[in-house]
Amino acid sequence: MTILLAGCGDLGTEAALRFAGLGHRVVGWRRSPSKLPAAIEGVAADLSSAPLPAVPADTSAVVIAVAADAPREDAYRAAYVDGVTHVLDALERDGVIPRRVLFVSSTAVYGDAGGGWVDEKTPTEPGGFSGRVLVEAEDLLRSRLAGSGTAAVSLRLGGIYGPGRTRLIDQVRSGSAVVPQDIRYTNRIHRDDAAAALVHLATMADEPAPVYVGVDDDPADMGSILRFLAAELGLPEPEVGDAGPARAGNKRCSNKLLHGTGFTFAFPSFREGYREVIAGRGVRHP
Ligand SMILES: NC(=O)c1ccc[n+]([C@@H]2O[C@H](COP(=O)([O-])OP(=O)(O)OC[C@H]3O[C@@H](n4cnc5c(N)ncnc54)[C@H](OP(=O)(O)O)[C@@H]3O)[C@@H](O)[C@H]2O)c1
Repeated sequence: MTILLAGCGDLGTEAALRFAGLGHRVVGWRRSPSKLPAAIEGVAADLSSAPLPAVPADTSAVVIAVAADAPREDAYRAAYVDGVTHVLDALERDGVIPRRVLFVSSTAVYGDAGGGWVDEKTPTEPGGFSGRVLVEAEDLLRSRLAGSGTAAVSLRLGGIYGPGRTRLIDQVRSGSAVVPQDIRYTNRIHRDDAAAALVHLATMADEPAPVYVGVDDDPADMGSILRFLAAELGLPEPEVGDAGPARAGNKRCSNKLLHGTGFTFAFPSFREGYREVIAGRGVRHP
């Protein structure tokens, strides 16, 4: 069976390599397919402009893991709303009915919860255009696939960190990290766990739910993470101060539903994950 990665950057490539490791044929659609490793059949495709290339007839799952080119609403719309539309158009055109289409979304679809918990049942209340566009793309995927024989699944990821994604480590190293004066929860997932979750949801025997929150077990507050990093790096604790507004709202995202599918995390918290990053293990896929 073939797995199609529509948008195949760091996360998509890591997932694709894992699908290939399980014996699947893996096809990766992106504008610069020459960047893909040999285990992935790269095909040049721009998801924001139709028509897309032919979909392999035996495609059992499609994973849409595209990212916007710029932090602007038009770029988000082109990547996510147009991207989903064109992928579904290509499936229809070619008469291919995969078991599942997975869409990589974000916890940005949730609003501020005053530090409270949110899960898949929490109404979406995006605080910015990125969350709004992602909600639109999720809704589009669900409505167009309803009754089609293909399950639509959105995986709402928290902040991805991992090899080469060292923003917080760099801030601590440079001394520019500021511990917020208030308790400010963050929600994150290691790139490898995000990729493993995509593989798990695409291949598990049970029918998936329409939405999963993809975060690790510990929605730790920013201060705890920065202090941990400083200790691991043998550096002084960052100062407490004005850290600016909480960009993603203050919320704790629950991964209970994902755990309930039997998924297990290689990096249940930022501690295991950042130790791995600090040790320089793994690569960020181009
Ligand atoms: N970063 C975070 O913390 C975070 C948090 C939550 C969710 N996410 C989501 O995670 C997903 C994947 O992230 P990532 O880290 O893998 O991003 P990435 O490394 O930037 O990969 C995205 C890939 O999308 C491809 N792409 C962009 N526009 C395209 C288009 N029009 N047509 C075809 N391919 C296109 C790019 O390849 P080409 O340039 O070769 O086309 C790129 O390789 C995104 O959906 C993002 O929204 C990220």
